[in-house]
Amino acid sequence: MPEKDWLDELPLHPGPPWLSMATRALDMATWLVVDDRYEVEVGEKDRLMAERPADVFAALPGTEGACVEVCDAVTDWMAANHPDRLDLRVGHLTDLGCHPLDLAARLVQEDLCVMVEHDDGTYRLDAASVCFPSHWRLREKLGRSVAEIHAPVHHYDDELRGRVDRFFGRLRDTKPVVRRNLSIHNHDDLYRPEPHESPASFRDSPDRVWLRSERQTLVRLPRTRIVLFTIKTQQCCLHELNARPEIAHRLSAKLHELNPELERLGEDVPFPRWLADWLAAR
Ligand code: HEM
Repeated sequence: MPEKDWLDELPLHPGPPWLSMATRALDMATWLVVDDRYEVEVGEKDRLMAERPADVFAALPGTEGACVEVCDAVTDWMAANHPDRLDLRVGHLTDLGCHPLDLAARLVQEDLCVMVEHDDGTYRLDAASVCFPSHWRLREKLGRSVAEIHAPVHHYDDELRGRVDRFFGRLRDTKPVVRRNLSIHNHDDLYRPEPHESPASFRDSPDRVWLRSERQTLVRLPRTRIVLFTIKTQQCCLHELNARPEIAHRLSAKLHELNPELERLGEDVPFPRWLADWLAAR
C-alpha cells in the first residue's frame, strides 16, 4: 500500500452513534502491513523488549499452545508474503530464545493480542505483545474480559458491548475482519502508555499535532480457537492534510459534532480547540 493511503480508510462518520464496530471482511493476503517503517518499528520492539519486557509482553499459564499457533500463523504469512524480511529476522530471534508470541510479534510491525474463550463465555486477554500502546497499560488489561478492557470507553456499554461480545462468539476462522480507529495527539511516540494528554498541552502548530490510527484485525485460529487481535499503528502529522483537503473537511465535520457531546459528558475534549476550524480551512 503506498504511503498514507490508509487515510482513506479512516472512520470519519459524524455521530451519533459515537462508536461503531465498522468491521469489514479481511482478505488474508492483506492480513498484516509491512511498510517503509518496518526496520524502525521492529528495531523499536527489540529495544523495548531489552529495556522493559514486563511492560510490553505477558503470557498467562495455559496460553502456550495458542502462542505457538500464533507464531506458526505469522511465520507462514511472512514466508508467503515477505520471505526476505523473514529470513533477516528469524535467525536472530531464534538465537535470542524468544517466547513464541514474542518471536511472532518481533517479525512484524503489529502488536499481537491473544483472546482466549473462558468457561463463562467471555473472551479474555491472556497473552500479548503490545509495544505500541495508545494510552493504556498491558498489565492493567491482562486477564480481563473484552467488556472489562473497555470499561473506560464512553458509550461502550450502551452502543457496543453486546455487539462486540456476540461478534467474538460468532467469529469464524474463514471470516477474518479488519477495522480502524482514530485519535489525535501532540506526540508521535509509538510506546505511549500514559493517559491521554490534555487539550491544553497541544501547541498552536499543525506541525505538532498527529493523527493516530490503529488498523486492527480479528482472526480466529483454527487449532486452538483463540481470537488473535492485531494492531498496526499508523500516524500522520496534521500538516500533511494540506494535501488531502477532502479528509480534512470530513474530519472537521466529525469534530464539530463530537465537541458538544464531550462537553455534555464533562470530558476534556481530547484535541485542540482550533483544530476543527483549521481543518475546515484546508
Ligand atoms: C470488534 C472488536 C472491538 C471493537 C469494536 C473495539 C472498540 C473500541 C473502541 C470504540 C474503543 C475506544 C477508543 C477507540 O476508538 O479506539 C476501544 C478502546 C480500546 N480497546 Fe477495543 N475494540 C475491540 C476489540 C478490542 C480487543 C480485542 C482489545 C484487546 C486488547 C481491545 C483493547 C482496547 C483498549 C486497550 C482500548 C483503550 C481502553 C482505555 O482507554 O483504557 N479492543 N475499543
